Amino acid sequence: MSIFWSSWITILSLACWLGILGVLLFVLRNKPDLQEDGTTGHIYDDVIQEYDKPLPKWWLVIFFGTIVWGLVYFLLFPAIFPSHFKGFSTVEVDGKTVPWTSENELYSDLEKNNKVFTENFNNNFLPNAAAQKQLATLASLQAKEPVKSERSSELSEQIQANVEALAPYVKELSGNQKALMAGERLFLQNCAVCHGSTAQGAPGYPNLTDNDWLHGGEPENILVTLHNGRHVNLDPTQPLPMPAQRADIGEQGVRAVAEYVLSISKNQEKTELDPAKIAEGKTIFGEKCFICHGQDGKGMISAGAPNLTDGIWLFGGDRETVQETIRNGRGGVMPEWETKLGNERIMLLASYVYSLSNNAVVAPADSAAK
Ligand code: HEC
Ligand code: HEC
Repeated sequence: MSIFWSSWITILSLACWLGILGVLLFVLRNKPDLQEDGTTGHIYDDVIQEYDKPLPKWWLVIFFGTIVWGLVYFLLFPAIFPSHFKGFSTVEVDGKTVPWTSENELYSDLEKNNKVFTENFNNNFLPNAAAQKQLATLASLQAKEPVKSERSSELSEQIQANVEALAPYVKELSGNQKALMAGERLFLQNCAVCHGSTAQGAPGYPNLTDNDWLHGGEPENILVTLHNGRHVNLDPTQPLPMPAQRADIGEQGVRAVAEYVLSISKNQEKTELDPAKIAEGKTIFGEKCFICHGQDGKGMISAGAPNLTDGIWLFGGDRETVQETIRNGRGGVMPEWETKLGNERIMLLASYVYSLSNNAVVAPADSAAK
């Protein structure tokens, strides 16, 4: 903290304290001149007269008490030259005793809550020694470098392998009604804004209940999606995950390949298609698109590229939307949750998401939201 702000805080604290003390002393010392009948001589509305009675003792005691308490406060908390004197009160953060600041207090509370949460998780949701050992190993690896972007690729790979090793316990949790209800609550708090409270998604935000997956629906895929996010940190100098095609194949090419995409989709009966364009588009697809969407257009989980034949659309399956997707590309971002929610909450979320399209023990979130 700079000397300027430190002095500013000191002046404010002391001025307030001295001001209140001063007002009180002034009032006690200065008696108004009294008339013979004991009133001050002030008359209001012709009838109301003013006496000068002493302040009640209990009131004075409390008032002086608060002034003394103010002094104690100055000793406990950073108020007098906080740049040099941090106050005597402390909190525990990360196993260390540190001076009180509102920030440290927040971290301390978060830590305490997380500890309670983790204990509750271990005792009630996943009382499984092997799982807890695996979670502890993962946490110790993450602690080596808490900032994700600073991790070496070797450490990231190790962490990913340990995340994937938790997959069997996600399956185990997905059969546990209590765990699923906790997962559902977490989903409503953190995920429903994008995926909807029934997890059925919206254009650009995938439906998580339909067993059609961009990045894979096995527990290990879902865990990695939640820990790392998908397509985060999109670099504006790099092509989008679904790269814009117009510069490459021209507007005519865009229209032709869109026609082909519509022709291989399950719901193409609804649209009347142009066979000449389909033939032209098929060639383009075989040259430009198969690398990610596969020769048959059924998509590829390693690229996050959707199946184009199943009639399930992420961005929309009408001609204009498909053309727009191909023309300008798409880059849907799924944020990462590892640093926001921690490993245990992600386990609960993953099991909830997994249960939605597998063994739905708990009905999709809507019922509980009411
Ligand atoms: C800011 C919006 C947003 C939030 C919040 C969000 N997601 Fe996502 N999520 C997305 C987008 C966008 C995608 C699709 C990414 C892509 O296009 O590849 C996605 C993808 C996914 C996938 C992969 C789907 C697939 O088909 O492979 C899962 C699973 C998922 N989200 C779960 C969650 C969970 C659980 C939460 C809450 C912890 C959450 N999401 C919060 C936007 C969001
Ligand atoms: C580098 C890999 C890559 C290439 C090449 C690619 N795509 Fe994609 N495509 C993707 C990804 C990834 C997505 C999903 C984008 C997202 O989730 O934001 C996608 C999405 C789409 C969608 C949206 C599907 C939906 O459900 O709404 C269409 C349509 C599409 N691609 C068509 C094409 C066509 C046609 C070509 C060739 C001209 C092509 N793509 C080339 C990776 C690719």
